[in-house]
Amino acid sequence: MARLEGKVALITGAAGGIGLATAQRFAQEGAIVAVNDMNEAAGVKEVENICQAGGKAVFYLGNVSDAAFVKQMMKDVVEKYGRLDILINNAGVVRDAMSHKMTEEQWDTVIDIHLKGTWLCSRTAFEYMKPQLFGRIVNTSSTSSEGNIGQANYSAAKAGIIGLTKTLALEYARSNILVNAVAPGYINTPMTAGIPAQVQEAVVNRIPLKRKGNPEEIANLHLFLASDESSYITGQVIFIDGGATVGV
Ligand SMILES: NC(=O)c1ccc[n+]([C@@H]2O[C@H](COP(=O)([O-])OP(=O)(O)OC[C@H]3O[C@@H](n4cnc5c(N)ncnc54)[C@H](O)[C@@H]3O)[C@@H](O)[C@H]2O)c1
Repeated sequence: MARLEGKVALITGAAGGIGLATAQRFAQEGAIVAVNDMNEAAGVKEVENICQAGGKAVFYLGNVSDAAFVKQMMKDVVEKYGRLDILINNAGVVRDAMSHKMTEEQWDTVIDIHLKGTWLCSRTAFEYMKPQLFGRIVNTSSTSSEGNIGQANYSAAKAGIIGLTKTLALEYARSNILVNAVAPGYINTPMTAGIPAQVQEAVVNRIPLKRKGNPEEIANLHLFLASDESSYITGQVIFIDGGATVGV
């Protein structure tokens, strides 16, 4: 049997990269997938592709850091499909700069989308998951949560997401809602595509597995954490980075 048969999943920032791979994987495993993104053209195309392949999906255009939008989106998902089982908080952007040169706009944008967006989506999903006594929330941290030059905003947001994940895991446990985080390393997506070739090479050299990860490899971890197979795991952060954070 498909691993997510009958489940309704919402994936934020799912029009590209890791979110896209996760939406496709979840649809293959029988989930109804709500795809959220700010990129309408890519999101609509993706939903068409999933439906053509025999899956079920719907697109929601909007910003995860806008509380009114998040509320409306989840209300609509539950009105359409009757429940909300899985939330993958994946949306994200980078606005890199050395801290002393970083603008307030760069700081606020990254903190708002990653940290506030994850909190807003989680607390809104909780309203629907609580009465079901079932839910799976997977947040997205990063190896940058350990610190990364030029990413004070991103690193702070991704470290904040770890604290948020652990707190929500404690608060939601009595409602049988499991909350975990994935912390990817260097993954081959549009987000990392613009990194100069020499920098890419240097980063890959420091990874024990000597390669970048693929979005599908994160999608597999999302699938495990969203499925019934992870029923005794909550409040955890799983680094998926080819060993990059081991032994340093
Ligand atoms: N690629 C990596 O190496 C890497 C490493 C660690 C963590 N991550 C995290 O993984 C997640 C996915 O990243 P990716 O590499 O697939 O990047 P990506 O840029 O390919 O995808 C991010 C998606 O989020 C969407 N988005 C941006 N702002 C949004 C908003 N306010 N509301 C809704 N959607 C929004 C974008 O349009 C885009 O489609 C992010 O949280 C990122 O920080 C990525």
